[in-house]
Amino acid sequence: MRLLLVTDTHLAPGVAPCNENWHAAKEFARTSGADLTINLGDITLDGTEDPAQHDWALASSADWPTPLRFLPGNHDIGDNPPGAGVAAKQPLNLAQLAAYRRDYGSDYWTIDAAPWRLIGLDAQLFASGTQAEAEQWAWLGATLAEARGRPLALLLHKPLFLDDPADATPHIRYVPQPQRGRLLELLAPCDLRLVLSGHAHQHLDRVLDGVRHIWLPSAAFIIPDARQERIGEKVTGLGVLELLPGGHRFEMVTPPGMAQHMLDHPAFDAFRDR
Ligand SMILES: [Fe+2]
Repeated sequence: MRLLLVTDTHLAPGVAPCNENWHAAKEFARTSGADLTINLGDITLDGTEDPAQHDWALASSADWPTPLRFLPGNHDIGDNPPGAGVAAKQPLNLAQLAAYRRDYGSDYWTIDAAPWRLIGLDAQLFASGTQAEAEQWAWLGATLAEARGRPLALLLHKPLFLDDPADATPHIRYVPQPQRGRLLELLAPCDLRLVLSGHAHQHLDRVLDGVRHIWLPSAAFIIPDARQERIGEKVTGLGVLELLPGGHRFEMVTPPGMAQHMLDHPAFDAFRDR
């Protein structure tokens, strides 16, 4: 199975840099030979503030050349708390979660590409204390039990951690503790090969404890160093992932027409400083 991975597309009416890069990704998808495209979240510029952006994102995606699946990001349905005792600036909004499910489909899912199983998780549910979070945990336990022995790829909006899985420093960029620990414990007996995430607007590709962690960069724009520490490569692009019976191949691509827009672009004036 050949997959295209896009993330942080930040689509919204009138925001030309994001919309033009989405068009470039679409043109690439047309000739890519991909079986499926997955958007790892922050589909909209900030649909939590302006729900009409979801209508725009869905309309912009309607003629996508491959089947298209989504995961939600913080700008789509609200955010999880960054750590124990630290509230989210814009918490998960259950009405927006319900709207997401209605419009994009389930916010967590599996895709089988034998022998592989892809597991998409809703990272915004972690530490939310909601019934939806409890349901995702129960579903994940059952899904992993059934997938024992199969190579797994985990997909979610946020990276699990920076370097240390046990680091409990609250941070909006990562899956919070102690939920991260619970997730890693559930995954420990499984054959986890890949963790694919977005959110950071940077590309990073590392193998830690035998698991390859790939941070996909935004397809839309780069956050300048003055506003965000540089951890990986600051670039716009998308990922091409080939799942094979005996392994996988991954390649980062910046398609023709996908510009290296910066968050300093005037199109982001109203969004940037919120
Ligand atoms: Fe995000």
